[in-house]
Amino acid sequence: MKRRSILIGAAGTALATGGAGLLWKPRVEGKPHNPYFSALNEMLKQDGPGRPVMLIDLDRINSNIDLIAGSVGPEKTYRVVVKSLPSVPLLQHVMQRARTQALMVFHQPFLNTIAETFPEADCLIGKPMPVSAIETFFRKAVGTRYDSENKVQWLIDTPARLQQYLAVAKRFGIRMRINFEIDVGLHRGGIPEPAALAPLLKVIEENSQHLELSGLMGYEPHLSGMQAALTHPEVKKVLDIYSGHIAVVKGAGYDPARLTLNGAGSHTLGIYQHDATMNDLAAGSGVVKPTDFDTYHLTDNLPAVFIATPILKRYEELKVPGDLWVAQPLQWWNPNMRRLYYIYGGYWKAKIISPPGTPDPIYQSTNQSPVTTSRNVDLQVDDYMFLRPTQSEHVMLQFGDLLAFRGSEIIETWPIFQQSG
Ligand SMILES: Cc1ncc(COP(=O)(O)O)c(C=O)c1O
Repeated sequence: MKRRSILIGAAGTALATGGAGLLWKPRVEGKPHNPYFSALNEMLKQDGPGRPVMLIDLDRINSNIDLIAGSVGPEKTYRVVVKSLPSVPLLQHVMQRARTQALMVFHQPFLNTIAETFPEADCLIGKPMPVSAIETFFRKAVGTRYDSENKVQWLIDTPARLQQYLAVAKRFGIRMRINFEIDVGLHRGGIPEPAALAPLLKVIEENSQHLELSGLMGYEPHLSGMQAALTHPEVKKVLDIYSGHIAVVKGAGYDPARLTLNGAGSHTLGIYQHDATMNDLAAGSGVVKPTDFDTYHLTDNLPAVFIATPILKRYEELKVPGDLWVAQPLQWWNPNMRRLYYIYGGYWKAKIISPPGTPDPIYQSTNQSPVTTSRNVDLQVDDYMFLRPTQSEHVMLQFGDLLAFRGSEIIETWPIFQQSG
């Protein structure tokens, strides 16, 4: 029914508008793959597994890593956001090239994988975790080389959660490093204002055998898309709030330079190149640049992650379920509906990027999705279509091993993180 109503809706609009419909007749879109995607198509027809895959362009990620690391600069720490780059070899590559051991982690199973594979990594937890996840982490990390007590910074957002963590630290007989989530304007939670920090610091001071202050985290993605610079009033607001919290910490006798003062993400990291309020900036997605990251401060970063999926079927006409009468007028009205392909899979958080000018599938199916094109697109069964994910988080976990390529050669296959464990 859903498919039918989509088609009838489209045809209805065309026909009901009569003469105006003619004026709206869509332009012919659609072009062959450009040389970049033609080469990838040939590579996958020769060496691909014949199913949807996730490709990573090694040259492009290198260029993106250099841009991000350059923007962070030598005075601050670049912290790699694990959920946006969820593969051990991919993280290894980024960390080596950017010369950093700092990670931001959002998922207990990922944290345990990191404990097993990156013994030197300093992990700031990116969201407050239920205490049961912490207990699971500690239980599973026993026997690894990872110094769980001194390498993880646990994120705390409320006095109640601090008390919960204190209880865990006492029960395990350990000392936990505490990083406070501060609300710098996003209003996603955290310590609401600098004055609210003082009593929490007192709890730490009174329980210094079990708790230690490691820093602050103030995330501000609400600045994305503002083309914001340091002089922008919204940026000033964020930095003023952040500075207020730093003043409280300083007042309690801490040296801010010895703490992790984290903030930013891929969208906003570029703002702070010439500011020293924060000493630790996070970014992940900007390394691969999915479509949601086509934003101002990432203009020079290059799209480096693609879904490639084989074409299973090709037809020279628009075929619709039940031979509906609308098919004929619809393909007459819209020249971009005169060829029909079925691609392997679909319904991903992604947009078709090649062949260029290809509209979204006429309906979405996780099994086979129908994609129409103009006659300008002349791909055959077993050729590939390419999509750009809208985000890398989650989507990169849907295809099994990542295929890392250079030019038109698959160089390595990179396993992705396990979601449980
Ligand atoms: C706390 C925090 N910091 C930083 C980031 C930035 O990640 P990315 O660079 O992948 O957008 C995120 C993303 O959700 C986040 O939640």
